[in-house]
Amino acid sequence: MRKLTLVFMAAGLSLLGGCDIDTVAAEKPTAAQRGADLIAEVGCGSCHTIPGIQGANGLVGPPLDQMARRIYIAGKLRNSPDNMVRWILNPQKVSPGNAMPDMGLTESQAEDITAYLATLE
Ligand code: HEC
Repeated sequence: MRKLTLVFMAAGLSLLGGCDIDTVAAEKPTAAQRGADLIAEVGCGSCHTIPGIQGANGLVGPPLDQMARRIYIAGKLRNSPDNMVRWILNPQKVSPGNAMPDMGLTESQAEDITAYLATLE
């Protein structure tokens, strides 16, 4: 009898465990989380030091800490979400000849990256 109870308890627990995993898998990442993943994936950190991104310690471009509080982007554009997307998509158009290459990103990828940079207060 006692053994049976234990078996039922174990079954119950593993069911609960299964539920937990499902819930986590169903949670959608936020734009900022997707942006952080993209930043790591495309390698912005080879040129920039970026808080919260592993291995992002490049010294080619300026560090992106406190990006949310800066007034200008690359000394050219007022720092707004729209302008940040513009910069990330097309740094060579905004500032021809600067050392940041056009990264070949889509607009929605640039928006996600912008959402992450906006968390850097
Ligand atoms: C090959 C090096 C390189 C790579 C790769 C690179 N950048 Fe840059 N980035 C630069 C340089 C250099 C500047 C400075 C441009 C200027 O001021 O004219 C810059 C400027 C910036 C700025 C403006 C910073 C400020 O202080 O105004 C932001 C934001 C930025 N980059 C984001 C990114 C993101 C996001 C990525 C990845 C999608 C990226 N960069 C990839 C070199 C790079």
